[in-house]
Amino acid sequence: MRSINSAYAGLPGSYLFSEVARRVRVHKEQHPEENVISLGIGDVSLPLAPAIIEALHGAVDEMGRAETFRGYGPEQGYAFLREAILKHDFLARGVELEADEIFISDGAKSDVGNFQELFGADAVIALTDPVYPVYEDSNAMSGRGGVHENGRWSRILYLPCTADNQFQPELPETRPDVVYLCSPNNPTGTVLGREALAAWVEYARANDTLILFYAAYEAFIRDDAVPHSIYEIPGADEVAVEFRSLSKTAGFTGLRCGYTVVPKKLRARTADGHELSLHDMWLRRQCTKYNGCPYIVQRAAEAAFTEPGRTQLLEALSVYQTNADMMLKACRDMGLRAFGGVHSPYVWLETPGHVSSWSFFDHLLEKAAVVCTPGSGFGASGEGYVRLTAFNTPALTREALERISRVL
Ligand code: MLT
Repeated sequence: MRSINSAYAGLPGSYLFSEVARRVRVHKEQHPEENVISLGIGDVSLPLAPAIIEALHGAVDEMGRAETFRGYGPEQGYAFLREAILKHDFLARGVELEADEIFISDGAKSDVGNFQELFGADAVIALTDPVYPVYEDSNAMSGRGGVHENGRWSRILYLPCTADNQFQPELPETRPDVVYLCSPNNPTGTVLGREALAAWVEYARANDTLILFYAAYEAFIRDDAVPHSIYEIPGADEVAVEFRSLSKTAGFTGLRCGYTVVPKKLRARTADGHELSLHDMWLRRQCTKYNGCPYIVQRAAEAAFTEPGRTQLLEALSVYQTNADMMLKACRDMGLRAFGGVHSPYVWLETPGHVSSWSFFDHLLEKAAVVCTPGSGFGASGEGYVRLTAFNTPALTREALERISRVL
Protein backbone atom coordinates (compact mmCIF):
# COMPACT_ATOMS: atom_id res chain seq x y z
CA MET A 1 0.00 0.00 0.00
CA ARG A 2 1.67 3.20 -1.11
CA SER A 3 -1.01 5.81 -1.12
CA ILE A 4 -1.40 6.61 2.57
CA ASN A 5 -2.47 9.90 4.15
CA SER A 6 0.82 11.79 4.07
CA ALA A 7 -0.38 14.21 6.76
CA TYR A 8 0.43 11.47 9.30
CA ALA A 9 4.08 11.62 8.24
CA GLY A 10 4.27 15.23 9.41
CA LEU A 11 2.75 14.62 12.86
CA PRO A 12 5.14 15.29 15.74
CA GLY A 13 5.87 12.48 18.23
CA SER A 14 3.02 10.73 19.99
CA TYR A 15 -0.24 11.92 21.52
CA LEU A 16 0.54 13.94 24.67
CA PHE A 17 -1.12 11.63 27.20
CA SER A 18 0.41 8.53 25.60
CA GLU A 19 3.88 10.05 26.01
CA VAL A 20 3.16 10.92 29.65
CA ALA A 21 1.91 7.35 30.25
CA ARG A 22 5.03 5.92 28.57
CA ARG A 23 7.39 7.92 30.81
CA VAL A 24 5.42 6.94 33.91
CA ARG A 25 5.53 3.26 32.87
CA VAL A 26 9.32 3.37 32.47
CA HIS A 27 9.68 5.10 35.84
CA LYS A 28 7.52 2.48 37.57
CA GLU A 29 9.52 -0.36 36.03
CA GLN A 30 12.71 1.20 37.37
CA HIS A 31 11.21 2.01 40.80
CA PRO A 32 8.65 -0.72 41.54
CA GLU A 33 8.74 0.13 45.27
CA GLU A 34 7.47 3.69 44.75
CA ASN A 35 3.84 4.73 45.11
CA VAL A 36 3.50 7.08 42.13
CA ILE A 37 0.62 9.57 42.49
CA SER A 38 -1.04 10.91 39.37
CA LEU A 39 -2.14 14.51 39.07
CA GLY A 40 -1.71 14.01 35.33
CA ILE A 41 -4.47 12.94 32.95
CA GLY A 42 -7.92 14.15 33.96
CA ASP A 43 -9.23 10.73 34.93
CA VAL A 44 -11.72 10.48 37.78
CA SER A 45 -11.02 8.44 40.92
CA LEU A 46 -14.46 8.12 42.55
CA PRO A 47 -16.62 5.11 41.62
CA LEU A 48 -19.87 5.51 39.72
CA ALA A 49 -22.78 6.90 41.76
CA PRO A 50 -25.35 4.39 43.16
CA ALA A 51 -28.14 5.76 40.91
CA ILE A 52 -25.98 5.07 37.85
CA ILE A 53 -25.03 1.56 39.00
CA GLU A 54 -28.70 0.78 39.61
CA ALA A 55 -29.63 1.99 36.11
CA LEU A 56 -26.82 -0.11 34.62
CA HIS A 57 -28.04 -3.25 36.42
CA GLY A 58 -31.60 -2.59 35.30
CA ALA A 59 -30.55 -2.14 31.67
CA VAL A 60 -28.38 -5.27 31.73
CA ASP A 61 -31.38 -7.28 32.99
CA GLU A 62 -33.51 -5.82 30.20
CA MET A 63 -30.97 -7.05 27.66
CA GLY A 64 -31.38 -10.59 29.04
CA ARG A 65 -35.13 -10.80 28.43
CA ALA A 66 -36.62 -11.30 24.97
CA GLU A 67 -39.38 -8.72 25.56
CA THR A 68 -36.98 -5.93 26.56
CA PHE A 69 -33.86 -6.85 24.58
CA ARG A 70 -32.53 -4.10 22.28
CA GLY A 71 -30.34 -4.50 19.22
CA TYR A 72 -29.17 -1.60 17.07
CA GLY A 73 -30.35 1.68 18.51
CA PRO A 74 -30.77 5.04 16.81
CA GLU A 75 -27.29 6.23 15.72
CA GLN A 76 -27.95 9.65 17.23
CA GLY A 77 -29.10 8.30 20.61
CA TYR A 78 -32.33 7.23 22.33
CA ALA A 79 -35.05 9.85 22.76
CA PHE A 80 -35.21 9.23 26.54
CA LEU A 81 -31.64 10.48 26.97
CA ARG A 82 -31.85 13.34 24.47
CA GLU A 83 -35.00 14.59 26.23
CA ALA A 84 -33.39 14.33 29.68
CA ILE A 85 -30.36 16.31 28.50
CA LEU A 86 -32.51 18.92 26.80
CA LYS A 87 -34.53 19.47 29.96
CA HIS A 88 -31.67 19.54 32.43
CA ASP A 89 -28.78 21.13 30.53
CA PHE A 90 -30.60 23.57 28.29
CA LEU A 91 -34.29 24.33 28.99
CA ALA A 92 -33.53 24.71 32.71
CA ARG A 93 -31.02 27.43 31.80
CA GLY A 94 -33.44 29.21 29.47
CA VAL A 95 -31.87 27.80 26.28
CA GLU A 96 -34.37 26.76 23.60
CA LEU A 97 -33.20 23.78 21.55
CA GLU A 98 -34.86 20.65 20.20
CA ALA A 99 -34.04 17.13 21.38
CA ASP A 100 -33.03 16.03 17.88
CA GLU A 101 -30.35 18.71 17.82
CA ILE A 102 -28.54 16.68 20.51
CA PHE A 103 -26.44 13.74 19.26
CA ILE A 104 -25.41 11.10 21.82
CA SER A 105 -22.00 9.49 21.38
CA ASP A 106 -19.22 7.60 23.12
CA GLY A 107 -17.60 10.83 24.26
CA ALA A 108 -16.73 14.43 23.49
CA LYS A 109 -13.18 13.53 22.48
CA SER A 110 -14.31 11.38 19.55
CA ASP A 111 -16.97 13.89 18.52
CA VAL A 112 -14.63 16.87 18.53
CA GLY A 113 -11.97 14.80 16.75
CA ASN A 114 -14.45 13.62 14.10
CA PHE A 115 -16.32 16.87 13.55
CA GLN A 116 -13.52 18.36 11.44
CA GLU A 117 -14.44 15.83 8.71
CA LEU A 118 -17.21 18.25 7.77
CA PHE A 119 -14.74 21.03 6.92
CA GLY A 120 -13.06 21.63 3.58
CA ALA A 121 -9.42 20.64 3.18
CA ASP A 122 -8.49 24.32 2.84
CA ALA A 123 -10.49 25.55 5.88
CA VAL A 124 -8.51 27.85 8.14
CA ILE A 125 -8.61 26.70 11.75
CA ALA A 126 -8.02 28.96 14.76
CA LEU A 127 -6.93 27.44 18.06
CA THR A 128 -6.14 28.89 21.42
CA ASP A 129 -2.59 28.18 22.54
CA PRO A 130 -2.30 26.21 24.85
CA VAL A 131 -5.05 23.87 23.65
CA TYR A 132 -6.51 20.39 24.20
CA PRO A 133 -4.36 18.52 21.64
CA VAL A 134 -7.28 16.68 20.00
CA TYR A 135 -8.45 19.83 18.18
CA GLU A 136 -5.02 20.42 16.68
CA ASP A 137 -4.00 16.82 15.96
CA SER A 138 -7.30 15.87 14.31
CA ASN A 139 -7.07 18.80 11.89
CA ALA A 140 -3.41 18.10 11.21
CA MET A 141 -4.28 14.45 10.46
CA SER A 142 -6.68 15.68 7.80
CA GLY A 143 -4.00 17.84 6.20
CA ARG A 144 -5.15 21.24 7.50
CA GLY A 145 -1.97 21.84 9.49
CA GLY A 146 0.59 22.57 6.80
CA VAL A 147 4.16 22.18 8.08
CA HIS A 148 5.01 21.59 11.74
CA GLU A 149 7.86 23.77 12.98
CA ASN A 150 8.88 24.90 16.47
CA GLY A 151 5.76 23.40 18.00
CA ARG A 152 3.31 25.07 15.62
CA TRP A 153 1.53 24.26 12.36
CA SER A 154 2.07 26.75 9.54
CA ARG A 155 -1.59 26.84 8.42
CA ILE A 156 -3.21 27.04 11.86
CA LEU A 157 -4.02 30.40 13.38
CA TYR A 158 -2.91 30.43 17.03
CA LEU A 159 -4.48 32.65 19.67
CA PRO A 160 -2.00 32.81 22.56
CA CYS A 161 -3.48 32.62 26.05
CA THR A 162 -0.93 33.70 28.61
CA ALA A 163 -0.84 35.25 32.06
CA ASP A 164 -0.47 38.64 30.29
CA ASN A 165 -3.95 38.40 28.76
CA GLN A 166 -5.45 36.46 31.71
CA PHE A 167 -5.61 33.43 29.41
CA GLN A 168 -8.40 35.07 27.37
CA PRO A 169 -7.99 34.54 23.60
CA GLU A 170 -8.11 37.75 21.61
CA LEU A 171 -10.31 37.98 18.52
CA PRO A 172 -8.23 37.03 15.47
CA GLU A 173 -6.98 39.71 13.10
CA THR A 174 -7.43 37.50 10.08
CA ARG A 175 -10.64 35.56 9.63
CA PRO A 176 -10.64 31.81 10.38
CA ASP A 177 -13.35 29.47 9.03
CA VAL A 178 -13.50 27.66 12.36
CA VAL A 179 -12.43 28.53 15.90
CA TYR A 180 -12.25 26.06 18.80
CA LEU A 181 -13.08 27.49 22.23
CA CYS A 182 -13.03 25.59 25.52
CA SER A 183 -14.54 26.94 28.75
CA PRO A 184 -13.81 26.04 31.52
CA ASN A 185 -10.56 25.65 29.72
CA ASN A 186 -8.43 22.59 29.35
CA PRO A 187 -5.58 23.07 30.21
CA THR A 188 -5.51 26.54 31.86
CA GLY A 189 -8.58 26.02 34.08
CA THR A 190 -9.76 29.58 33.32
CA VAL A 191 -13.24 30.54 32.01
CA LEU A 192 -14.74 32.78 29.36
CA GLY A 193 -17.24 35.13 30.96
CA ARG A 194 -20.53 36.17 29.36
CA GLU A 195 -19.07 39.32 27.81
CA ALA A 196 -16.10 37.51 26.29
CA LEU A 197 -18.32 34.76 24.92
CA ALA A 198 -20.78 37.31 23.51
CA ALA A 199 -17.87 39.03 21.72
CA TRP A 200 -16.94 35.70 20.12
CA VAL A 201 -20.52 35.04 19.01
CA GLU A 202 -20.73 38.52 17.51
CA TYR A 203 -17.39 37.98 15.74
CA ALA A 204 -18.53 34.61 14.39
CA ARG A 205 -21.78 36.08 13.08
CA ALA A 206 -20.02 39.02 11.43
CA ASN A 207 -17.27 36.90 9.88
CA ASP A 208 -19.10 33.70 8.97
CA THR A 209 -16.86 31.73 11.35
CA LEU A 210 -18.02 28.51 12.98
CA ILE A 211 -17.37 28.16 16.74
CA LEU A 212 -16.72 24.69 18.14
CA PHE A 213 -17.41 25.15 21.85
CA TYR A 214 -16.05 22.45 24.15
CA ALA A 215 -18.00 22.47 27.42
CA ALA A 216 -16.92 19.17 29.00
CA TYR A 217 -16.06 20.90 32.29
CA GLU A 218 -19.14 23.13 32.63
CA ALA A 219 -20.33 21.36 35.81
CA PHE A 220 -17.32 22.83 37.63
CA ILE A 221 -18.55 26.41 37.19
CA ARG A 222 -19.34 27.83 40.63
CA ASP A 223 -20.54 31.29 39.64
CA ASP A 224 -23.92 31.59 37.94
CA ALA A 225 -22.76 34.63 35.98
CA VAL A 226 -20.43 32.38 33.94
CA PRO A 227 -22.23 30.70 31.00
CA HIS A 228 -22.39 26.90 31.08
CA SER A 229 -23.43 26.77 27.43
CA ILE A 230 -22.58 28.99 24.50
CA TYR A 231 -26.30 28.96 23.65
CA GLU A 232 -26.88 31.20 26.67
CA ILE A 233 -25.61 33.92 24.30
CA PRO A 234 -28.39 35.02 21.91
CA GLY A 235 -27.68 34.12 18.29
CA ALA A 236 -25.10 31.44 19.15
CA ASP A 237 -27.34 28.72 17.70
CA GLU A 238 -26.59 30.16 14.25
CA VAL A 239 -22.80 29.95 14.62
CA ALA A 240 -21.84 27.34 17.23
CA VAL A 241 -21.65 23.61 17.85
CA GLU A 242 -21.27 22.51 21.49
CA PHE A 243 -19.55 19.38 22.83
CA ARG A 244 -20.40 17.92 26.23
CA SER A 245 -19.35 14.90 28.21
CA LEU A 246 -20.36 12.74 31.16
CA SER A 247 -16.73 11.78 31.78
CA LYS A 248 -15.84 14.36 34.38
CA THR A 249 -19.33 15.22 35.60
CA ALA A 250 -20.60 11.66 36.14
CA GLY A 251 -17.40 9.58 36.22
CA PHE A 252 -17.91 8.10 32.72
CA THR A 253 -14.25 8.13 31.63
CA GLY A 254 -14.41 4.33 31.39
CA LEU A 255 -18.11 3.89 30.60
CA ARG A 256 -18.03 6.47 27.74
CA CYS A 257 -20.87 8.82 26.89
CA GLY A 258 -20.89 12.36 25.53
CA TYR A 259 -23.16 14.50 23.40
CA THR A 260 -22.87 17.15 20.75
CA VAL A 261 -25.37 19.87 19.96
CA VAL A 262 -25.66 20.76 16.27
CA PRO A 263 -28.50 23.30 15.90
CA LYS A 264 -30.60 23.11 12.75
CA LYS A 265 -30.12 26.84 12.19
CA LEU A 266 -26.41 26.33 11.46
CA ARG A 267 -25.67 26.70 7.77
CA ALA A 268 -22.36 26.23 5.98
CA ARG A 269 -21.25 26.68 2.39
CA THR A 270 -19.03 24.73 0.03
CA ALA A 271 -16.28 26.67 -1.78
CA ASP A 272 -18.61 27.12 -4.78
CA GLY A 273 -21.37 28.59 -2.60
CA HIS A 274 -23.62 25.52 -2.21
CA GLU A 275 -25.40 25.80 1.18
CA LEU A 276 -25.72 22.78 3.46
CA SER A 277 -27.07 22.19 6.96
CA LEU A 278 -24.33 21.13 9.38
CA HIS A 279 -27.00 19.28 11.35
CA ASP A 280 -27.88 17.18 8.30
CA MET A 281 -24.23 16.63 7.48
CA TRP A 282 -23.44 15.41 11.01
CA LEU A 283 -26.52 13.17 11.02
CA ARG A 284 -25.39 11.70 7.70
CA ARG A 285 -21.87 11.18 9.01
CA GLN A 286 -22.99 9.53 12.25
CA CYS A 287 -25.52 7.25 10.54
CA THR A 288 -22.83 6.07 8.13
CA LYS A 289 -19.93 5.60 10.52
CA TYR A 290 -21.43 4.98 13.97
CA ASN A 291 -23.93 2.55 15.44
CA GLY A 292 -24.65 4.51 18.56
CA CYS A 293 -23.68 4.54 22.23
CA PRO A 294 -24.67 1.22 23.93
CA TYR A 295 -28.22 1.09 25.32
CA ILE A 296 -27.05 0.19 28.83
CA VAL A 297 -24.67 3.17 28.86
CA GLN A 298 -27.44 5.51 27.73
CA ARG A 299 -29.69 4.24 30.54
CA ALA A 300 -26.82 4.88 32.97
CA ALA A 301 -26.40 8.38 31.52
CA GLU A 302 -30.12 9.03 31.92
CA ALA A 303 -29.75 8.31 35.66
CA ALA A 304 -27.27 11.20 35.89
CA PHE A 305 -30.18 13.56 35.14
CA THR A 306 -32.59 12.19 37.78
CA GLU A 307 -33.01 13.81 41.20
CA PRO A 308 -31.07 11.13 43.17
CA GLY A 309 -28.44 10.99 40.42
CA ARG A 310 -27.96 14.79 40.48
CA THR A 311 -27.58 14.82 44.27
CA GLN A 312 -25.01 12.03 44.23
CA LEU A 313 -23.03 13.64 41.40
CA LEU A 314 -22.93 17.00 43.14
CA GLU A 315 -21.36 15.27 46.16
CA ALA A 316 -18.63 13.80 43.94
CA LEU A 317 -18.10 17.14 42.25
CA SER A 318 -17.61 18.86 45.58
CA VAL A 319 -14.83 16.36 46.46
CA TYR A 320 -12.95 17.37 43.29
CA GLN A 321 -13.65 21.05 43.89
CA THR A 322 -12.24 20.77 47.41
CA ASN A 323 -9.14 19.10 45.94
CA ALA A 324 -8.79 22.00 43.49
CA ASP A 325 -9.04 24.51 46.36
CA MET A 326 -6.40 22.59 48.28
CA MET A 327 -4.10 22.50 45.22
CA LEU A 328 -4.41 26.21 44.50
CA LYS A 329 -3.71 27.13 48.11
CA ALA A 330 -0.79 24.73 48.49
CA CYS A 331 0.85 25.91 45.25
CA ARG A 332 0.50 29.54 46.25
CA ASP A 333 1.81 28.78 49.76
CA MET A 334 4.86 27.29 48.04
CA GLY A 335 5.39 30.68 46.37
CA LEU A 336 4.37 29.42 42.92
CA ARG A 337 2.13 31.22 40.43
CA ALA A 338 -1.00 29.11 39.94
CA PHE A 339 -4.06 29.84 37.77
CA GLY A 340 -7.44 28.23 37.07
CA GLY A 341 -8.76 25.72 39.60
CA VAL A 342 -11.80 27.78 40.65
CA HIS A 343 -14.37 26.79 38.01
CA SER A 344 -12.30 23.87 36.86
CA PRO A 345 -10.60 20.66 37.99
CA TYR A 346 -7.33 21.94 36.47
CA VAL A 347 -4.67 24.10 38.08
CA TRP A 348 -2.24 25.71 35.64
CA LEU A 349 1.08 26.06 37.41
CA GLU A 350 4.03 28.17 36.32
CA THR A 351 7.22 26.16 36.76
CA PRO A 352 9.63 27.52 39.38
CA GLY A 353 12.53 29.43 37.83
CA HIS A 354 10.89 29.07 34.39
CA VAL A 355 12.40 25.61 33.86
CA SER A 356 10.92 23.82 30.88
CA SER A 357 7.65 21.95 31.29
CA TRP A 358 9.19 18.54 30.54
CA SER A 359 12.17 19.20 32.90
CA PHE A 360 9.75 20.01 35.72
CA PHE A 361 7.64 16.96 34.82
CA ASP A 362 10.77 14.74 35.02
CA HIS A 363 11.87 16.39 38.27
CA LEU A 364 8.49 15.77 39.97
CA LEU A 365 8.38 12.19 38.71
CA GLU A 366 11.98 11.40 39.72
CA LYS A 367 12.12 13.18 43.06
CA ALA A 368 8.50 13.18 44.28
CA ALA A 369 6.92 10.30 42.34
CA VAL A 370 4.17 12.70 41.28
CA VAL A 371 2.80 12.88 37.74
CA CYS A 372 1.69 16.18 36.20
CA THR A 373 1.05 17.10 32.56
CA PRO A 374 3.71 19.25 30.86
CA GLY A 375 2.21 22.51 29.62
CA SER A 376 4.29 22.54 26.44
CA GLY A 377 2.39 19.42 25.37
CA PHE A 378 -0.65 21.68 24.96
CA GLY A 379 1.16 24.14 22.71
CA ALA A 380 4.06 26.57 22.50
CA SER A 381 2.45 29.06 24.93
CA GLY A 382 2.19 26.26 27.51
CA GLU A 383 5.98 26.10 27.81
CA GLY A 384 7.06 26.90 31.37
CA TYR A 385 3.81 25.54 32.84
CA VAL A 386 2.47 22.20 34.04
CA ARG A 387 -1.14 21.17 34.61
CA LEU A 388 -2.32 19.46 37.81
CA THR A 389 -5.70 17.74 38.04
CA ALA A 390 -8.04 17.63 41.01
CA PHE A 391 -9.42 14.20 40.11
CA ASN A 392 -7.35 12.08 42.50
CA THR A 393 -8.57 11.21 46.00
CA PRO A 394 -8.27 13.93 48.68
CA ALA A 395 -5.70 11.84 50.62
CA LEU A 396 -3.45 11.24 47.61
CA THR A 397 -3.84 14.84 46.42
CA ARG A 398 -2.71 16.07 49.84
CA GLU A 399 0.21 13.66 49.86
CA ALA A 400 1.24 14.68 46.33
CA LEU A 401 1.24 18.35 47.33
CA GLU A 402 3.36 17.61 50.41
CA ARG A 403 5.83 15.69 48.26
CA ILE A 404 5.99 18.53 45.71
CA SER A 405 6.69 21.09 48.43
CA ARG A 406 9.55 18.91 49.73
CA VAL A 407 11.36 18.71 46.37
CA LEU A 408 11.04 22.32 45.22
C1 MLT B 1 -7.23 15.52 29.94
O1 MLT B 1 -6.55 15.10 30.87
O2 MLT B 1 -6.95 16.54 29.30
C2 MLT B 1 -8.45 14.78 29.58
O3 MLT B 1 -8.72 13.79 30.50
C3 MLT B 1 -8.28 14.14 28.30
C4 MLT B 1 -9.59 13.80 27.71
O4 MLT B 1 -10.64 14.26 28.15
O5 MLT B 1 -9.55 13.09 26.71
